[in-house]
Amino acid sequence: MKTFIKIALVLTLALSASSVLAFHDGGVAYCAGCHTMHNSQNGAVVDALHPAGNEFLLNTGTPSDTCLRCHANYGQFMNGQGFGAGGDFYWVTRTFTWGSTGISKGDSHGHNVVAPTKGIAADVTLTTAPGGTFSGANLGCTSCHDPHGNENFRLLYGSDLGPFYAGGRYDFAKPAPIAKGNSRRTYSGTGIETNGAHTVYISGMSDWCANCHQNFHDDNTTNFVHPTHELGSSIAAAYNAYVSSDDMTSGTSATSYMGLVPFEDVQADVATVNTLTNTAGPDGADEVMCLTCHRAHASPFADAARWDNSVMLISQSHPLATDTGFIQTDVDRKYYGYTFSANQRSLCNKCHAKDYNDHKLY
Ligand code: HEC
Ligand code: HEC
Ligand code: HEC
Ligand code: HEC
Ligand code: HEC
Ligand code: HEC
Repeated sequence: MKTFIKIALVLTLALSASSVLAFHDGGVAYCAGCHTMHNSQNGAVVDALHPAGNEFLLNTGTPSDTCLRCHANYGQFMNGQGFGAGGDFYWVTRTFTWGSTGISKGDSHGHNVVAPTKGIAADVTLTTAPGGTFSGANLGCTSCHDPHGNENFRLLYGSDLGPFYAGGRYDFAKPAPIAKGNSRRTYSGTGIETNGAHTVYISGMSDWCANCHQNFHDDNTTNFVHPTHELGSSIAAAYNAYVSSDDMTSGTSATSYMGLVPFEDVQADVATVNTLTNTAGPDGADEVMCLTCHRAHASPFADAARWDNSVMLISQSHPLATDTGFIQTDVDRKYYGYTFSANQRSLCNKCHAKDYNDHKLY
């Protein structure tokens, strides 16, 4: 009898819990969200573009097409309107040119997740991951995120199980990073990255990216690469004092966080950390990491950079309204809602302050 009550109680709890579960929560989502067994329902094809069905019995073309069936409208492919931490894959379809040689190529703007329904083909310039071997032709949402769910940050793959790759699995040497993020809806509300509302990165991001970009990590002692390790007290102090190219001294650590130049807050507690109003700058133990300079998905700029590294002033960043291929919304959205002083130079200066005195030239 006791056991029966217990079971009944557990069942009730389980049912009430599952009724509030979102699509991927608590492990694998309902299969038909992504799969169709015969590409047929009520006598009609489920994926009209592919009447003969799809590999893995997916309901929408490739794995990435399948994810974007829902996620495009959450901001992961939304005309550059997705102002999320990861970034909007729309940018890999946008190429801008200027002058006789200036070019910012779509395929350089990020990870080209193969999704023909959205016009995304494999990167034609980078056929494999720079610094590693993962092939661009195999790159999709499910190269990084586990479609069947797990308990990691953003369902990212880790060292226990790597992504599906060319009939087998690609081995990830390093676990998923520790971090906490905001809503998947990145075009409105709290999913929009700002100086206060943003992913709090805690540890392991650089190691994780290096699962595919092995030689770009500073564990690799044969190559010279930008460090991904502790900031140290003088760089942390420079970050905290830096407000803009016009003001490198009046910032304070309580409000110095710049959403465009994040770092890993190694002491943050993932269970309790506030991801909605969090403006505190770093201390010396915090770390510079891959996402200090890059977006995980895509950006309007070459190398999926968070800001345009090919110009002197932020105001010169492409796309500009004088570029061939621009549309006005591209120009308006390239820096999310962030604003800058007219003299603002590269955001590398947030840590390095090499723009000291530069504004006095104007
Ligand atoms: C969020 C989308 C999504 C959901 C939900 C989903 N799958 Fe999948 N599944 C995929 C994708 C995408 C692949 C292709 C392989 C890859 O890219 O990882 C796949 C591949 C598979 C495979 C073959 C490869 C493997 O991992 O063994 C099986 C079997 C499978 N799914 C079963 C299921 C079952 C059963 C369910 C429901 C309990 C389910 N899937 C729910 C997206 C999904
Ligand atoms: C049927 C619609 C649908 C499809 C298809 C779908 N998703 Fe989602 N996804 C959602 C919803 C709803 C949420 C928010 C709630 C949740 O986490 O379950 C979400 C959230 C997510 C998140 C954020 C989870 C977190 O921890 O905050 C990731 C990452 C994600 N999806 C990846 C994928 C990938 C990769 C695919 C393709 C394999 C995919 N989704 C396919 C509906 C979908
Ligand atoms: C599953 C393997 C994989 C993981 C994990 C991965 N990448 Fe990549 N990355 C690739 C591949 C493949 C390419 C080349 C194809 C492309 O750019 O579409 C690439 C290209 C890039 C590029 C160059 C984009 C361009 O076209 O110039 C940057 C920058 C980059 N990755 C950064 C990162 C960062 C930062 C992380 C961690 C958040 C990361 N990658 C994680 C596979 C991966
Ligand atoms: C190269 C690895 C990689 C690929 C490919 C990738 N993601 Fe992500 N994704 C990440 C990482 C890392 C984050 C966390 C970003 C952050 O917080 O800075 C993330 C974040 C997200 C989020 C949370 C909201 C946001 O924008 O930050 C969603 C939803 C998501 N990804 C869905 C997708 C979908 C859908 C695809 C394919 C169209 C995809 N991802 C492809 C690595 C990847
Ligand atoms: C201090 C900023 C910064 C950090 C930190 C950083 N990158 Fe980069 N990354 C850049 C810039 C700028 C470029 C443009 C090319 C160059 O300068 O070498 C770039 C280029 C790349 C490329 C494209 C290379 C190509 O051939 O097109 C990849 C891939 C990449 N970075 C991955 C990573 C990974 C993985 C990490 C972390 C282990 C990382 N980056 C850390 C700034 C950074
Ligand atoms: C979040 C802070 C941060 C940002 C942003 C940043 N760096 Fe660094 N950088 C560091 C740290 C920390 C070091 C290591 C300093 C040390 O060990 O003394 C470093 C070192 C360097 C070095 C010296 C490397 C060596 O081996 O001596 C160069 C050059 C450099 N950074 C250039 C850049 C450029 C260019 C950018 C922008 C694309 C950039 N950094 C952005 C934190 C940052």
